Amino acid sequence: MMAGSFQTVASMAAALLFILALAGLSRQKTAKQGNYLGMVGMAVAIGATTALALAQSPAPWMAAALLAAALAVGAVAGIAKARRVQMIAMPQLVALLHCFVGAAAVLVGFDSFLLQPGGWFEGRMNVYHLGEVGLAVFIGGVTFTGSIVANLKLSGRLSGKPLVLPGRNLLNVLMLAAYVALVVPFGMSVGAAAGLPYLIAIAVLSFVLGAHLVLAIGGGDMPVVVSLLNSLSGWAAAMAGFTLGNDLLIVTGALVGSSGAYLSYIMCKGMNRSLTAVLLGGFGEGSAPSASTAGAASGAPDSGASYRETTADEVAHLLKDSKSVVIAPGYGMAVAQAQFPVAELAKRLRSRGVDVRFAIHPVAGRMPGHMNVLLAEAKVPYDSVFEMDEVNDDFPAVDTVLVVGANDTVNPSAETDPASPIAGMPVLRVWEAANVVVLKRSMGNAGYAGVGNPLFSNGNTAMLLGDAKQSIEAVNAAL
Ligand code: TAP
Repeated sequence: MMAGSFQTVASMAAALLFILALAGLSRQKTAKQGNYLGMVGMAVAIGATTALALAQSPAPWMAAALLAAALAVGAVAGIAKARRVQMIAMPQLVALLHCFVGAAAVLVGFDSFLLQPGGWFEGRMNVYHLGEVGLAVFIGGVTFTGSIVANLKLSGRLSGKPLVLPGRNLLNVLMLAAYVALVVPFGMSVGAAAGLPYLIAIAVLSFVLGAHLVLAIGGGDMPVVVSLLNSLSGWAAAMAGFTLGNDLLIVTGALVGSSGAYLSYIMCKGMNRSLTAVLLGGFGEGSAPSASTAGAASGAPDSGASYRETTADEVAHLLKDSKSVVIAPGYGMAVAQAQFPVAELAKRLRSRGVDVRFAIHPVAGRMPGHMNVLLAEAKVPYDSVFEMDEVNDDFPAVDTVLVVGANDTVNPSAETDPASPIAGMPVLRVWEAANVVVLKRSMGNAGYAGVGNPLFSNGNTAMLLGDAKQSIEAVNAAL
């Protein structure tokens, strides 16, 4: 009784802290505070679960030793990884963490099934509980392998190109149908021995479906996949909560699941794509290369196009003489770790009376909010950071746009070339400004979607080639 009320109070406190954490994370100004609240919530959850497990265990010392060992392994691995990880490797790390949630849901499902009351042969779990177990293993399995494939794709160990098997959508539908055909007899089964083959088959099926789903999605759609897996991992945790009868896990899983679903919606909107279109394919599958994308296959889409090169001195003069400057950061800023000199540049220009704003595309970088995190790390004032929709109509009145390692998110062919693989994706209309300076290392590499960018050949665009950090430091020095 005591333990039950303790658990309820601790669960409610932790759930409340998680909700407050999410509320805090929704704004840059309060994000740090949100993180702290989440950490306290997690500490409460771990503390309460541990205390309860010890109180209910027939062998508390053994339970304590096992829990301590599990926590130690997790903490050592987590701290070691978090210390070493670079900002540009964050997206693949997040994908890897989702895979652990999926694996946990599968293991919890198997555990809850194998330990059913009544024994290996005679035991009868109710149909409802068996259904929960089947669904937890299925969602967990899809999240597990889907996240592993996403990790391999994001880290470049697997090609970003979609693997499209013949009849790909039919295959997915057949696998869903097979799941239903397996979960029904599984729900009817009596005893672990009878149900186990079905559960193993469900697990194998979900592993194949997860890998197939993500392998088939084209590079350009990865932002949606990352947020979708985030959502799935939440639902997998919620299902594990049902099988364990743990309210806190259900609430937490539902919070992650629904916020991930909303994030997927934002990502889809940012790319002007419907979720069905992402899941059923199309984007990034490489429709016939158009004039502007023809070089993509060679890996050097812009190297043949004419362009004008500039120097750090010239850029410093241009910026000094501008009244209004917009900085459009992209993945290259993360690679170069150029956020610190960029923040310094913005500060210097502002001190000279120049109006400096940052324009953030929703899918810039490699993970949701990637650019916001980098700019916050460099202590860029929040009120100078604007979402795409807030600045996109202002470009005609801007004197100079500095594109720092962005490519796909400033590519005009998304608006002008219906045959382009990124056609229809809303982009920052930087070309409407009086002057555009693009920072990238060479003319040989495309952006993530692998398509050429006609912005680089525009009359008002100048290329400042080189590592973005070094280039911006040189501009700062010249200023
Ligand atoms: P990208 O289109 O990926 O282009 C990156 C640019 O940075 C390239 O022009 C690259 O050219 C340059 N660059 C790389 N390293 C650099 C360095 N050290 N110094 C200077 N420049 C450097 O960037 P974006 O505009 O941010 O677009 C994001 C893309 O990623 C979109 O296609 C989006 O769909 C996709 N994506 C996003 C996410 C999320 S959730 N945001 C997840 C997965 C995929 P060089 O190599 O020549 O330097």
